[in-house]
Amino acid sequence: MAAFRSRVGGLAYGGDYNPEQWDPAVWREDVRLMREAGVNVVSLGVFAWASLEPEPGTYAFGWLDEVMDLLHGNGIAVNLATPTAAPPVWLTQLHPEVFPIMADGEPFGFGSRLHYDPSSPIYRRYAAAITTKLAERYSYHPALAMWHISNEYGPTAYNPASSVAFREWLRRRYGSLDALNEAWTTRFWGQVYTSWEQIEVPNIPRSWSNPARRLDFKRFTSDALLECFVAERDIVRSFRDDIPVMTNFMRFYRHADYWRWAPEEDAVALDIYPDPADPSSHISAAFQYDLFRSLKGGQPWMLMEQAASAVSQWKLNVVKEPGRMLLGSLQALSRGADSVMFFQWRASRGGQERLHSAMLPHSGPSSRTFREVVELGRELRLLSGVAGTSSRADVAILFDWNGWWGLEETYGLPRNDFSYADTVMRHYTPLWREHVPLDVVSASSDLSPYKVLIVPNAYLIDDVGVSGIQEFARNGGTVIMSFFSGVVDSCNRVRPDGYPGAFRELIGAKIDEYWPARPAETFTVEFTDGRVTTSTWWREDLHLETGKPLAVYQDGLLSGRAAVVENTFGSGRVVYFATLLEESAFGEVLVDAVREAGVESPFAGVPSHVECTIRGDKYLFLLNHSADEPTTVPLTFAGIDLLTGAEVAEEITLAPLGATVIEIGGGKSGPQPDDRTTRIASGASL
Ligand code: GLA
Repeated sequence: MAAFRSRVGGLAYGGDYNPEQWDPAVWREDVRLMREAGVNVVSLGVFAWASLEPEPGTYAFGWLDEVMDLLHGNGIAVNLATPTAAPPVWLTQLHPEVFPIMADGEPFGFGSRLHYDPSSPIYRRYAAAITTKLAERYSYHPALAMWHISNEYGPTAYNPASSVAFREWLRRRYGSLDALNEAWTTRFWGQVYTSWEQIEVPNIPRSWSNPARRLDFKRFTSDALLECFVAERDIVRSFRDDIPVMTNFMRFYRHADYWRWAPEEDAVALDIYPDPADPSSHISAAFQYDLFRSLKGGQPWMLMEQAASAVSQWKLNVVKEPGRMLLGSLQALSRGADSVMFFQWRASRGGQERLHSAMLPHSGPSSRTFREVVELGRELRLLSGVAGTSSRADVAILFDWNGWWGLEETYGLPRNDFSYADTVMRHYTPLWREHVPLDVVSASSDLSPYKVLIVPNAYLIDDVGVSGIQEFARNGGTVIMSFFSGVVDSCNRVRPDGYPGAFRELIGAKIDEYWPARPAETFTVEFTDGRVTTSTWWREDLHLETGKPLAVYQDGLLSGRAAVVENTFGSGRVVYFATLLEESAFGEVLVDAVREAGVESPFAGVPSHVECTIRGDKYLFLLNHSADEPTTVPLTFAGIDLLTGAEVAEEITLAPLGATVIEIGGGKSGPQPDDRTTRIASGASL
């Protein structure tokens, strides 16, 4: 990635480029306008399989040769895609079995994209062939700067070929049928298998399937997709191994375990479309950015796609008003992105996404969007020093795909309407509002760098995750955990000796029963410090052992019993929420627990609509998410506003949706680096 960074001169800027939809005269105008905008890299050929291989084994590379040369001649690097997300119609007609069969038993059909069964040996053979041809031809083309393998890996398939591959995957995982029968508890409802060939993918849409089988199917599907990525990656690497290889991920994407994928890539990349009509979409975006920074241990990641203005796939597609696209772009940089890229460079005239915005919209270079695109290009050049830097937090939040699948994919829980994404955001948001930096961790991450670990509704967690959390607390960490955690093992089997089997000692309490609330039922909860609030949705019939109540119910059958527990575990502290507290009260308690663990935000007192982030110890990003209010932020140091070049000290005013980046201490009168670190870390307000 360092070579890639130096090649693009810092931050990468550009988008998906689909010249196969246009005639060559347009390509020349594209390149002229790309230069005007400061574009330095494009993702090329993402869905171009049909244009590159119009018939089986007949290739048409002439147009791509010309575009690669044209881009290179104009100093624009290429992130070259393997086009395998969109198999051509001839392939599906020759081999209809490559179509994924959906959960309802019907094949996906032709005319969209992602219409392949990842386990199909036929699909994999054809995908390998086109990838090999591309790598043969372009590996040493001077425009090539990165490989973009396929696009947004995603299909879940229930084909016969999926069953064959599932069996192989299960054999590798369990070794013997006895072990599989045990892991899946197949004596329940008489499902015992006596030969591997009896095992199918769980394609029974008319009923619920075995929860361990279902869980393994999710794992298998993620791994099958990953195998497709790895196969293509290995092909391009076999020609040349100094070009970074990645693929683009999605936000809150449940069907691929990105913790398993990230180590296989040179960088992780995200496509994200925060909804301008949703007043909290920037907070959810911030979480994704923290996740992506964390997926490869703090290494910069790539913002691979965003929209220049409106999208077209929802019922209501609101524009990004002036400034919002620039603000969102800087937000991604503030949390570790080394690129700002879009879907797509030029708006398509036809096709499904004909009204999706683009860097160069239908209204052309005189449009507001294009002016903002040119402005963004200018700003990114001014911010090139940010590239390659990172940051690390004191607080970590667990985000685990297995836990997600356990809560949402396997049914049979006390309530079956959990949303893992919502619960994670409920824990993340109060800290975001207080400008507390967070990293995201998996169940097997090293927790030793952190002071606080947040564990939202970890119903299913494996033994490694359990001992990691216990060890963390024992060694003095603060664990903040919410209800229905530590219930089952990695095979979805209830852990022995009562709930919460994994965390009874940790939380200092035993739970007799989980008590989901009736619709609209609320409970009064009083804290030991006198604060009174309400809770809803969930309660636990909890019996304290070593734990102490932090809050108790004031009404209902659990009146007088603990609703929030604190416990000492080793030299650590544990705060356990056994109910869903009203949102603001929950936020206060959560933030208090983080503060008590010695974590202070350097930006205490700055209104929460101004997002404050420090990247690389010296770049302070101030982002005003209010579309109405200009906001003045006091500064306790001098620095340089990198976007205007002005020296700033004492305070800075941000326009509505305004953003800036200050190089701390960059001014003549600014403190020396050591001073500034100390002043920020010691909690000085801005
Ligand atoms: C995804 C895809 C793009 C495009 C955009 C916009 O991110 O990768 O090809 O479809 O969504 O909808």
